[in-house]
Amino acid sequence: MMYELRAVSKTYGNGAAPVHAVRDVDLHVDEGELVAIAGPSGSGKTTLLQLLGALDRATSGDVMFEGRELSSLGDAALTQLRLETMGFVFQQFNLIPTLTAAQNVEAALAPVGLDVDERRRRTAAALQSVGLTHRSDHLPSQLSGGEQQRVAIGRAVANSPRVLLADEPTGNLDSETGREIVELLASFAHEGAQTVVIVTHDLELVSRAPRIVRMHDGRINGN
Ligand SMILES: Nc1ncnc2c1ncn2[C@@H]1O[C@H](COP(=O)(O)OP(=O)(O)OP(=O)(O)O)[C@@H](O)[C@H]1O
Ligand SMILES: [Mg+2]
Repeated sequence: MMYELRAVSKTYGNGAAPVHAVRDVDLHVDEGELVAIAGPSGSGKTTLLQLLGALDRATSGDVMFEGRELSSLGDAALTQLRLETMGFVFQQFNLIPTLTAAQNVEAALAPVGLDVDERRRRTAAALQSVGLTHRSDHLPSQLSGGEQQRVAIGRAVANSPRVLLADEPTGNLDSETGREIVELLASFAHEGAQTVVIVTHDLELVSRAPRIVRMHDGRINGN
């Protein structure tokens, strides 16, 4: 079991107008599973993904990751956990504009503390896994949107994370390119046996995902 959430809630603010972004969510995610989380804007998808990514803490309930209760870990331990086990992909590609595709991937490996050769090897492997070896020396401005997102995915998988978390990864792409990006993300659940969670408001985009979790008003249905 990769994730087990029990009665997880996240409330923003307190006092007069608290926002119940995630309400009483129970969710299991197995290792190697591909899960799409779909729901309308404001339904709590990003908030839930941030809890899965240990980027934020639940207000109540338990978030278990690989058998560990995340609320029992301090900030430094959570940072280390993210670095070693999680890869993130966002709607904004967040590439550094002055670095090439390869340098963007390599920069993300810097905190891992590898020697130069190993860093280069992993960078090349990551770019190959997203089909961008031939664009390694291009700057982001010299890449299409879909290619930039591929670099961002390469960056996310370069350290072989056990879980890949993507928040609206196709939000800035046309529908055909978006489909390709979803297929690429899904391929990591097949080939690398990585756990992949994709959040989107576009149900049609993920209609072929083996498991779709629907979110509405902070709650999930059918889990
Ligand atoms: N930092 C915050 N402080 C207060 N309220 C917040 C905060 N972040 C999100 N919210 C509120 O929590 C609710 C859920 O937001 P969230 O971003 O999780 O939705 P979402 O499903 O990702 O929406 P979208 O599809 O538009 O990205 C919304 O009502 C939002 O306004
Ligand atoms: Mg969101």
